[in-house]
Amino acid sequence: MWDYSEKVKQHFFNPKNAKLVSDANARGDVGSISCGDALSLSLKVNPDTEIIEDAGFQTFGCGSAIASSSALTEIIIGKTIDDALKVTNQEIADYLDGLPPEKMHCSVMGMEALHAAVANYRGEVLEDDHEEGELICKCFAIDDLMIKRVVKANGLQSLEEVVNYTKAGGACTSCHEKIEWVLDEALAEMAEAGIDVAAVAKAKAKVAAPQPEIAASSKPQAVTESSSEDDAELAKRKAIIEQVIDEVRPAVHADGGDIHLVDVEDHLVFVSMSGNCSGCGLSGLTLANLEIKISDALGETVTVFPLQPSYDEAEKKEATYDL
Ligand code: FES
Repeated sequence: MWDYSEKVKQHFFNPKNAKLVSDANARGDVGSISCGDALSLSLKVNPDTEIIEDAGFQTFGCGSAIASSSALTEIIIGKTIDDALKVTNQEIADYLDGLPPEKMHCSVMGMEALHAAVANYRGEVLEDDHEEGELICKCFAIDDLMIKRVVKANGLQSLEEVVNYTKAGGACTSCHEKIEWVLDEALAEMAEAGIDVAAVAKAKAKVAAPQPEIAASSKPQAVTESSSEDDAELAKRKAIIEQVIDEVRPAVHADGGDIHLVDVEDHLVFVSMSGNCSGCGLSGLTLANLEIKISDALGETVTVFPLQPSYDEAEKKEATYDL
C-alpha cells in the first residue's frame, strides 16, 4: 500500500477546482484514458495582466493524480502565466507534503498540463509534441523529449526513477532499453552543460524522501516481507472486486453502459463508468449498490469512487475554445 500524506488525502477527498472553467481561454490536455491517466486543465487568463484568474481540472487517474491536479490549480490561481510556468512538479509534490516516489508521475502530469495550457493560450505548438519527439514508450505514449525534460528537472539517474516519474516503461517493459538510451543521452547533455546531476538529485531528495514513519522503520527486512504479502493480498482483493463487478455488469450493460475496475488503494475502489452510465443520474445508485456488494464480499467497508464520469475522450477531442 502507498503511504500518503494527510494533504494528499484531503485533496483527493475534497479536490479544489474539479471543474471545466466555463469561460476558459486556455486548455492543456495531457495523458490518455487508454494509458491510465489523463488530465485536462482549463484556465481563465486575464489578457491585460496575464494573471490566471481561474483554473479547473478534469482528471482520470488515481488518487494521487486527482490530488496533484487539485494542488496545481491552488498553486497557480493568482499567478501570472510567467510565474506559473516556474512551478515545477516537485513544488506540486511539496504542496502535498510529498508523494510516494512511485506516484511522482502524477505531479509531472500536472506540470505538463500547465505547460500545454500556457502554450495553448499563447498559440504556440509545444516542442514536445510527439511529431517532434521520438516515441519511446508506446504503452503510455511518451517520447524522448518528455523523458529528457523530466530527467533534467528532477536529476533522475536510473531507469526505475524514470518509470516512477513518467510512467514510461511501467507496463510491458519492452521500452526499457530505449529509456536507458534516452536517460544516458540526457545525463550526457547535462554533463556537457556543466550541470551536476547528483546535486540536482540531492536538492530534490529532501522532499522525495519517504514519510517519517517509513524512514524511522528499524526493520527494513520486515518491510520487504510485508510488501510482498501486501502485493499478494492486494491481488486477492482485486480478484474479489472484479468478480463482484462482473456480477453487476449485465445490469449496467442493459442500461447501455459499462463499468470497469481501475485501481484499488487502501479502502478506495476506483472504477470507470462509460456509455450511458457515465452521465446517468442512476450511476450513483449503481455505485452505492456496488459499494455494498464489494464491502460484503471483502468483509470490510470500502468506498467506490468513480473516476471523472463526465470526462470523455471523444468529448475531449471535439471540444473547442474561443481563444
Ligand atoms: S512500450 Fe513502454 S511500457 Fe510498453
